[in-house]
Amino acid sequence: MKIAPSILAADFAALAEAVARVEAGGADLLHVDVMDGRFVPNLTVGPVVVEALRKRTRLPLDVHLMIVEPDRYLADFVAAGADLLTVHLEAAPHLQRTLARIRELGARAGVALNPATPPDGLRYVLDDVDLVLVMSVNPGFGGQRFLPAVLPKVREVRALLGGRPVEVSVDGGVTVEHAGPLAAHGASVLVAGTAVFGAPDPAAAIRALRRAAEDALAAGRAPGAPDPAPRP
Ligand code: DX5
Ligand code: ZN
Repeated sequence: MKIAPSILAADFAALAEAVARVEAGGADLLHVDVMDGRFVPNLTVGPVVVEALRKRTRLPLDVHLMIVEPDRYLADFVAAGADLLTVHLEAAPHLQRTLARIRELGARAGVALNPATPPDGLRYVLDDVDLVLVMSVNPGFGGQRFLPAVLPKVREVRALLGGRPVEVSVDGGVTVEHAGPLAAHGASVLVAGTAVFGAPDPAAAIRALRRAAEDALAAGRAPGAPDPAPRP
């Protein structure tokens, strides 16, 4: 299980220190939430901040574009240092072309699904995608409550991927209490903002998330346990 702390919950005036803390604390990716005030009702950061982060961390930058017309900015974010660029299915009418472009630019390509978006739209881009981001809150703000209705969608997405080595990431309101069920349903990345940066010890919070996920997977593999979800 990979853990991707979301800097949305960090102190933006002390970002470098926050990132250093989670990097030393065992984070696997750094999740950067980009909001445009149109796709979502909030504004955050753009390529300038991605570029600044790139100079301060070796962690792969997992850039989540909550913006309309994402194609206009793909090259800028890759040039700024994004390793993984995720667009929303709801904002990308020519999804296959957008994903192919991200790969052409040299990044890995992700698709995000809002909580009410069914996973069917992924069916025809299965070979164009490196990560599926299942939103477990309506995007726009950190610190919201996890929507348990998305749990079965995680399993559906994993099944649709049919054994392909694609990450299934879950984003929004993820706490240690959800880590086990998410792992058992086939998630391979947990994005966590408040649960990591809102904790007194972010490194301990990362370890707790990973341990809860791995314990659930180990329990699923115990003799007599139901079949675990297929994994990449
Ligand atoms: C929501 C963002 C998430 C979220 C994560 O729009 O995409 O990355 O802020 O933060 P928490 O874990 O606080 O929900
Ligand atoms: Zn996000």
